[in-house]
Amino acid sequence: MAADMQVLLDRISAEMQSRTDRGAVASYIPELGQVDPNQFAIAVATADGGLFHAGDALTRFSAQSITKVFTLAIALGRAGDQLWSRVGREPSGTAFNSIVQLEHERGRPRNPFVNAGAIVTTDALLAGRAPKEALAEILAFIRAAAEDEDIHINKAVAGSETRHGHRNFALANFLASFGNLKNTPEKTLGTYFHQCATELTTVQLAKAGRFLIGGGAKPALVSQGRVRRLNALMLTCGHYDGSGEFAYRVGLPAKSGVGGGILAIVPGKASIAVWSPGLDHNGNSKLGTEAMEVLAREMDWSVF
Ligand code: DON
Repeated sequence: MAADMQVLLDRISAEMQSRTDRGAVASYIPELGQVDPNQFAIAVATADGGLFHAGDALTRFSAQSITKVFTLAIALGRAGDQLWSRVGREPSGTAFNSIVQLEHERGRPRNPFVNAGAIVTTDALLAGRAPKEALAEILAFIRAAAEDEDIHINKAVAGSETRHGHRNFALANFLASFGNLKNTPEKTLGTYFHQCATELTTVQLAKAGRFLIGGGAKPALVSQGRVRRLNALMLTCGHYDGSGEFAYRVGLPAKSGVGGGILAIVPGKASIAVWSPGLDHNGNSKLGTEAMEVLAREMDWSVF
């Protein structure tokens, strides 16, 4: 399988590198708007310890919303099922930064992956601590998952988002008005923006995803029951209003980020990371999704 996998990843990478229609780089965070769209990377970490990659897989990119999976794992570890009194588990059918449902659903976000839900999750993770402590816990978790200490937060990206994060400030203030923030909007968002500004390579992301493979795959950072639940949420909510389309085309639980990365899990078998900075109209990597579709088809990988 090793030789075949490498050949397949090289082929997918070459095909994606040659594409001219690459989507649009996120520009609402100006620092991310500077990233060269002509990049593509793919990496696969298998349950038995194999690691394969192709393209720009050693280049760092902004993890953004992919970090929401790690913070959810930590917050559930700290708060347990109590977290679900503050955030739901249903797909939203709305954009990642939408505010519309919050008003008639009384400040309880639909799920932990839309921005409003992720802000509540980060607020729960903070639990009255200094942002520095919570961020150290988040980084420690991601580093332990990747078994790699060389993963850091890009402060310029966090600063850029803070200066332009009007929507997230609106969401946080709205949540606070319903009593669904325990810390000030500034403190929770400061933590959230820095969490989102975590940078890693595609190889590091594939390795960091291994804790979600389950079935005895290492490193085992959370219980098998929690692995199942995190994967269920990734499948139903991981791509926002594009979650149904991604499940239809790829058939794997996955989480995207506006930095152009996608982490997908083949339960019991592998963790896959792709990165291409150009996004589709839902804010998910355009070529990343296409690459996942080809890989899943060729490997006959699907949860269905
Ligand atoms: O809060 C934001 O808007 C960004 N820090 C993260 C959004 C994101 O990655 C959406 N995913 N595709």
